[in-house]
Amino acid sequence: MENKFGIEQFLDLSNYATDERVSRRKNSEVNSQEFFTPYSIVKRMCDKVAPEDWADPDKTFCEPCMGNAQFVLMILYRRIHEYNIDWQTALNTLFALELMQDNIDEGRSRIHELLRNISPDYDPEVADEIMDRNIVCHDFFLWNFDEWRPYTDEEINSDKKLKEYVKKKKK
Ligand SMILES: C[S@@+](CC[C@H](N)C(=O)[O-])C[C@H]1O[C@@H](n2cnc3c(N)ncnc32)[C@H](O)[C@@H]1O
Repeated sequence: MENKFGIEQFLDLSNYATDERVSRRKNSEVNSQEFFTPYSIVKRMCDKVAPEDWADPDKTFCEPCMGNAQFVLMILYRRIHEYNIDWQTALNTLFALELMQDNIDEGRSRIHELLRNISPDYDPEVADEIMDRNIVCHDFFLWNFDEWRPYTDEEINSDKKLKEYVKKKKK
C-alpha cells in the first residue's frame, strides 16, 4: 500500500492557535514566549545540517525548547524516512526539554503519530520508555546537559548565577 504520509501537512500549523489554546496561555502565570515554528522555516533550518550528520546513527540532536515538537518531528522524519536510520536509534539519539507539561504531552503524542505512520515496526511502549528518558519537562537553565539530569540543589547553591536565577524565579 502506498504511504500517503506527508511531513509538510503533518507540521502545518495554519489552524493551530485555537481559542482554547490562546486562552490557556493568556491565563498562564508563566510567560513562556510561546511561538511554534512553521514547516517552511523548520525545513530551511534543517537543510543547513550536513547530510553526513543526518545519516550518522551516532550523532545526537538536542532541542532545548521543544514547544509542540516541530523540530523534533522533522529530525525524526529525516533520520528515519530519508536516511534509513531505524526508529529506535533515531529516538534514542534525540533529546528535548520543554517548560510546559501540556506541550510535552502534545509533542509526545505527535511523535507517536509520526512513528506509527513511518515505521512499520514501531512499538509504542518502547517509544514511551525512550521518551521518558529523553524528552523532559524542565527549565533548561536548571538542566545539566552533559549528564542529562537536573542540577542538584547543591550544584545550584554553589553557582552564583544559578542561585540568583532560582531566587528570581521564586519571586
Ligand atoms: C518560541 S517557542 C519555540 C518552540 C519550538 N522550538 C519551535 O520552534 O516550534 C519556545 C518554547 O520554549 C519553552 N520554554 C521557554 N522557556 C523555557 C525554559 N527556560 N526551559 C525550557 N523550555 C522553555 C516554551 O514553553 C515554548 O514552548
